[in-house]
Amino acid sequence: MFGIRINMAETRSQDRSVETDINGLRQALCALTAVVGLAFAAVPGAVRAQYELAPGDGAGLVGDPEAGKVFWETLATSSCKNCHGIQGQGGFAPPLAGRGLTTEDFIRAITQPAIMPTFPQYTAQHMADFAAHFARMPPVTTPGSWRYPMPPDAGQGLMVAFAIGCAQCHGPELETPRHNAGAVFADADFEWFKKHVYQHNAVVWDYWEELELANMAPYVRMGTYSPDRLPETVLAQIWEWMTEEGLLTPVTASLPQPELTDDGAVYTLTLINQGLRDKGLVAEDATVRLVLPEGAEVVGASGAGYRGIKPDPESGNDAVVWQLERIAPHDRISLQLTLAAAATKENNLSGYVAWPGQDTKHPERLNLRVGQRPRSFP
Ligand code: HEC
Ligand code: HEC
Repeated sequence: MFGIRINMAETRSQDRSVETDINGLRQALCALTAVVGLAFAAVPGAVRAQYELAPGDGAGLVGDPEAGKVFWETLATSSCKNCHGIQGQGGFAPPLAGRGLTTEDFIRAITQPAIMPTFPQYTAQHMADFAAHFARMPPVTTPGSWRYPMPPDAGQGLMVAFAIGCAQCHGPELETPRHNAGAVFADADFEWFKKHVYQHNAVVWDYWEELELANMAPYVRMGTYSPDRLPETVLAQIWEWMTEEGLLTPVTASLPQPELTDDGAVYTLTLINQGLRDKGLVAEDATVRLVLPEGAEVVGASGAGYRGIKPDPESGNDAVVWQLERIAPHDRISLQLTLAAAATKENNLSGYVAWPGQDTKHPERLNLRVGQRPRSFP
């Protein structure tokens, strides 16, 4: 289908250096749970974990089903869940629950590239724990469905990304890699793309460091693809689709719960462009709108580019508006709005930042909601 040839001959990836002790990744993951989503936050103990597992490595290991369950539920293994289902009930990939899969089955799956990439970031013990966890689950009667179904009008490169599984993690428009490439726009060519797919686990740490996000995510979630299974000519079709659709500006926002002061409830919206200095895409002429809930009373608003209160064309409500000339890589823009009283959960402040895309033909837009913490690209 779609001219994809994925070579099923068995190969093992080479060049995996073992850099760290077995417990390192686990410790890093514990540290992580506390800080997920905090851009630029320092996380002690980030580990560049790569393990060179061989088929026999599970021999003699005893899996701990509780540890397996806990690890399965961490963000680190969101990667597995995107394809195998949140409960291992299947989806794009076969079910894992209640099938009696062994530690060796798991090790084989993460070390031998197929449709599924390899995951050199996990240990044999992780796989033993997964095997124990899924073995005690009941068998699946109805396998789950794909996390993202393929849109009927998908173009060639996007179809390929769906067929291989990229889209189950990266969404129906491959947003994450388009943001990542936008973050390093001047350097983003097929060579860059290839490196991040075929040597993912090895290069991603340097990439984070380059973006000065080195301490942001002490784990790697994507797998590493093999050109034997995903040939360059096929990968090129995905890149072509992404660049035709256009690369995206890595602007991220946080809008925490308001601070309650004598003047009222103070909301602070912070916008950050996580791109690489002098290389990443710039959001130019961005409009920020915080749409006021019914009955909200504005005490004041401040921050660069404040334009006053205007009707919001989408909701018909009033919106507090800012117009920003540029959100360039490493800019950190803070905007404040004070309401006489905090909005309620049911009738909350919301909004969006919108700008004409520099590389994409479509306008770019970031929706805002209270409680939102900065996410990162990745
Ligand atoms: C991109 C989608 C995808 C991701 C992500 C993924 N898998 Fe898979 N997995 C598959 C597919 C598809 C298969 C069936 C074999 C094949 O074609 O690769 C499979 C097979 C397996 C099998 C063998 C099942 C059997 O029937 O023998 C195991 C075990 C497994 N995966 C575990 C994992 C674990 C653990 C993770 C996370 C570290 C993971 N997978 C992530 C797609 C995925
Ligand atoms: C299992 C989920 C998953 C699958 C499947 C997946 N990715 Fe990713 N990808 C990620 C995540 C998560 C990141 C962010 C880095 C990380 O944590 O590994 C990422 C990052 C990237 C990046 C940015 C560069 C970088 O190193 O961070 C590119 C490019 C990319 N993916 C392309 C692809 C392509 C192409 C495919 C399919 C061939 C694919 N990905 C499949 C999860 C996935």
